[in-house]
Amino acid sequence: MSVIAIDGTFASGKGTLAKKLAAHYNLPHLDTGKLYRATAKIALENNFDLSNPAQCAEAARQIDPGALDDPTLKSGPIGAAASKVSIHPAVRQELLDFQREFSSKGGVLDGRDIGTVICPDADVKLYIDAEPSERARRRHSELTSYGEDLSFEQVLEQLTERDERDKNRAEAPLKIASDAHLIDTTNLSIERAFDVAVKLIDAVLAAKAPNK
Ligand code: DC
Repeated sequence: MSVIAIDGTFASGKGTLAKKLAAHYNLPHLDTGKLYRATAKIALENNFDLSNPAQCAEAARQIDPGALDDPTLKSGPIGAAASKVSIHPAVRQELLDFQREFSSKGGVLDGRDIGTVICPDADVKLYIDAEPSERARRRHSELTSYGEDLSFEQVLEQLTERDERDKNRAEAPLKIASDAHLIDTTNLSIERAFDVAVKLIDAVLAAKAPNK
């Protein structure tokens, strides 16, 4: 029963990688960004003030964990709002128990603070990153496929703003855990990144296995 913690920047490929790793190791997967996106959606629907911690925490309490596969959560505006609600410690506190409970049974969790805050004792920690221009290129083609009409430059600007907020917030900022393994996916296909991750994870798990 292993816990694999995957953190990284927006559009670095961490979500796709996490899903593939969960299937490979036969572990449940939790995309923790969806919790923040669902919180943001509820806050927006209720005209809550995204800078008001109590209102955003109330939105987090209203999440239905069974409705996290709602495809509208993937939109650009909800992602940007998710980054804003996620700065509030009260919101992060509301979402903590669900994530800890999920990880207590073993699984692959991806997000921004998995290796640092949610699962500091994870068996393996990965940190996924890529050059901003490459991440913007990927996100731009994803948004275009959803029918959203944004230029590459707009996507790059939003991504830079999101990186800034996620890395510089006071509570649980995005950072590389001291024992995380960095994978830069700038020049890697999804398949190649997956191969690199599996080799790394297998080596870490083998080194930790008893009777060695
Ligand atoms: O991974 P994502 O794009 O779905 O995440 C949306 C936002 O949610 C992200 O900009 C910051 C926040 N988030 C967080 O603060 N902590 C996490 N573990 C996951 C996401």
